[in-house]
Amino acid sequence: MTNVKLAIKGGDPVRKRPYPEWPIWNDAERDALNRVLESGKWGSLNGKEVNHFENAFAKYQGAEFGIAVTSGSTALEVSLRAVGIEAFDEVLIPAYTFVATATAVLVNAAIPVFVDIDLETYNISTSSLEQAITPNTRAIMPVHFAGRPANMDEVEQFARDHGLHIIEDAAQGWGAQWRGQGVGTFGDFGCFSFQSSKNISSGEGGIILTNDEELARMAASYMNCGRVEGGIWYAHYHLGNNYRMTEFQAAVLSSQLSRYDEQLQQRQRNMELLDRALQHLNGVQPLTPDARITRHAGHIYIFRYQAEAFDMLSKEDFVSALQAEGIPCSGGYSLPLYKQPVFQNQSYGPFTKLLKDKAAYQDIFLPNTEKACKEEAVWLPQRLLLGTENDMQDVVRAIEKIYENRHELI
Ligand SMILES: Cc1ncc(COP(=O)(O)O)c(C=O)c1O
Repeated sequence: MTNVKLAIKGGDPVRKRPYPEWPIWNDAERDALNRVLESGKWGSLNGKEVNHFENAFAKYQGAEFGIAVTSGSTALEVSLRAVGIEAFDEVLIPAYTFVATATAVLVNAAIPVFVDIDLETYNISTSSLEQAITPNTRAIMPVHFAGRPANMDEVEQFARDHGLHIIEDAAQGWGAQWRGQGVGTFGDFGCFSFQSSKNISSGEGGIILTNDEELARMAASYMNCGRVEGGIWYAHYHLGNNYRMTEFQAAVLSSQLSRYDEQLQQRQRNMELLDRALQHLNGVQPLTPDARITRHAGHIYIFRYQAEAFDMLSKEDFVSALQAEGIPCSGGYSLPLYKQPVFQNQSYGPFTKLLKDKAAYQDIFLPNTEKACKEEAVWLPQRLLLGTENDMQDVVRAIEKIYENRHELI
């Protein structure tokens, strides 16, 4: 392969065939949508689909209660409110995550406190938690990033030691398990997303899981305009909103859930295959395995790029070369979350005046998160993991080809 021209330089790509497309759907989704359409019951206040999916997903993940909402973002927002987070409370979150983990805290008038990640796992660094705690810390939000469970032994221990609430951002964690227990069932709440790119999708949507009946009631009230169970229709008890999922979304999600296990197993097999292969390649490294992760949801396959081995070829250029070879991939987040304009410029809408002095991030530098964004993280999307064994070998071939011809790119 040594003298084969790189695709980015006009050569033939390793792959011309596409990887599986997403979303995957069939007559089950079509029938589900028609069922709702024809029933005339399009909202959860009349129909049964949302309630059915809430129970099915809660059971699937191993929780007592499920409260469906409009998105993963609103799931986080409602959960923080339901545990009683108030203005100026501090909430610990990893700096390598989607923006919603942080903005859900701000829209509750509370302060996100960014914690570095561990580069072996790309999840919150539990050894960094102690230095982030203050008398105002009320909660911790571990993110099961990419579908890989965070270290829940240490998160739970830390939360117990400091009397903190745990809200798990399991937006990417459907089916993932830590020591055999479903993520999203460890904390006060676990929050999942069903947005378009997600492994179970209805275009948009989310769910909150909990094992605590009182918390479930509070979350359901905040989700439904502050109403309470059994209350009269126009009686509103809490500062809620309308975050109700539609019957159409729930019907599609039930169909998606019915074929989920099979897809999960396929992604797992392919992740294991990539883990085994990538550890023998020059200049790339899989994340470190952990026997306590009994199931990885496989939302993103992350590997660590090492520019030193590629004669200092930048991550950006490596990713462009890999894409040109026909491998769908990206460099993921290009900025640590605290460097996003919203936080640097403190553009907090109605909360700007209130939070300006406390939610200030101009002086933070978290080295692992910086390294992940600028130098290291390469992401392969979940749809790629639904390919065949030979499809995975193409990823390996493409990386090898770029390595062998790296001098062409410098
Ligand atoms: C880690 C994480 N948290 C929260 C969210 C928010 O979910 P949604 O897009 O459904 O609002 C996402 C979705 O991208 C996510 O990946």
